[in-house]
Amino acid sequence: MPRHLLNLADAGAAALGAMLADAAARKAARAGWPKGRADSDAPLAGHVLAMVFEKNSTRTRVSFDIAMRQLGGSAVLLEAGSTQLGRGETIADTARVLSRMADAIMLRTDDHAKIEELARHASVPVINGLTDLSHPCQIVADLQTVIERGKPLAGQEWAWLGDGNNVLNSIVEAAGLCGFHLRIAVPPGYDSDPGFIDRARAAGSRIMLTRDPVAAVAGVDVVVTDTWTSMGQPHAVAKLAAMAPYQVNPALMAQARPDALFLHCLPAHRGEEVTDAVIDGPASVVWDEAENRIHAQKAILRWAFGQIG
Ligand code: CP
Ligand code: NVA
Repeated sequence: MPRHLLNLADAGAAALGAMLADAAARKAARAGWPKGRADSDAPLAGHVLAMVFEKNSTRTRVSFDIAMRQLGGSAVLLEAGSTQLGRGETIADTARVLSRMADAIMLRTDDHAKIEELARHASVPVINGLTDLSHPCQIVADLQTVIERGKPLAGQEWAWLGDGNNVLNSIVEAAGLCGFHLRIAVPPGYDSDPGFIDRARAAGSRIMLTRDPVAAVAGVDVVVTDTWTSMGQPHAVAKLAAMAPYQVNPALMAQARPDALFLHCLPAHRGEEVTDAVIDGPASVVWDEAENRIHAQKAILRWAFGQIG
């Protein structure tokens, strides 16, 4: 069976720890190098990744491509609208064909059932580049970013503000796997998937659900938010109004620990979920977080090919 990463639990806690160590080591080993130069051991030389996008992307698309180059391999970009998938060729047949042509497949899509279907029919690793349910690759980069700021994950308190979305689901999953705790402040009607919360709690993570943004943020180590309007959703006035009290602004950040970090997967909607003063301020590590998508992706790819974990 190929190693698929549809959610972080597919790797598990030990492999996730190995990925984070690998990402940090490889990042350090190539500090200052041109970004397209291959790592000295080129561990995925000759390997090719097929990247299928049914939604827009900047970071995921570029970081997977550059990650493959740094590992000595290459990537092929398929924008679904211009492929036969976009004209109705089945996911199963697409999986069979891409498995003959590429060594791994990354998919960004809407319905999570589509990536499950792709994985069922693929004979090579399938990696989730974001679905409406989850965004596991993003969270590996988030974890790396927090660790490299000298903050071990176990026992930490994180706060999530805003929409109960795909990024939050993967953070909840990470909390259970890495042993940190999470306070989730989301307005009524926009709660996240209860299944992820139940599993994280069963793994020992304290997950607090609240409607009070100040209670969520008070004394936490990490504050995270994301857009209030995910891809495929309407920019709805009622939703923006419901979200307004959950904006991460300097007054709210001041409730967190003085050394708290601010994370955002990007793209940000400045003035909505976060103000300029926070995202451009001293707590923000969003540019490191974006860069770490490359380093995290490399570790995920090496795990998928059985090289670590
Ligand atoms: N954070 C993230 O996944 O960004 P993109 O949508 O640009 O890939
Ligand atoms: N929640 C956002 C994440 C974008 C990287 C979305 O799904 O659009």
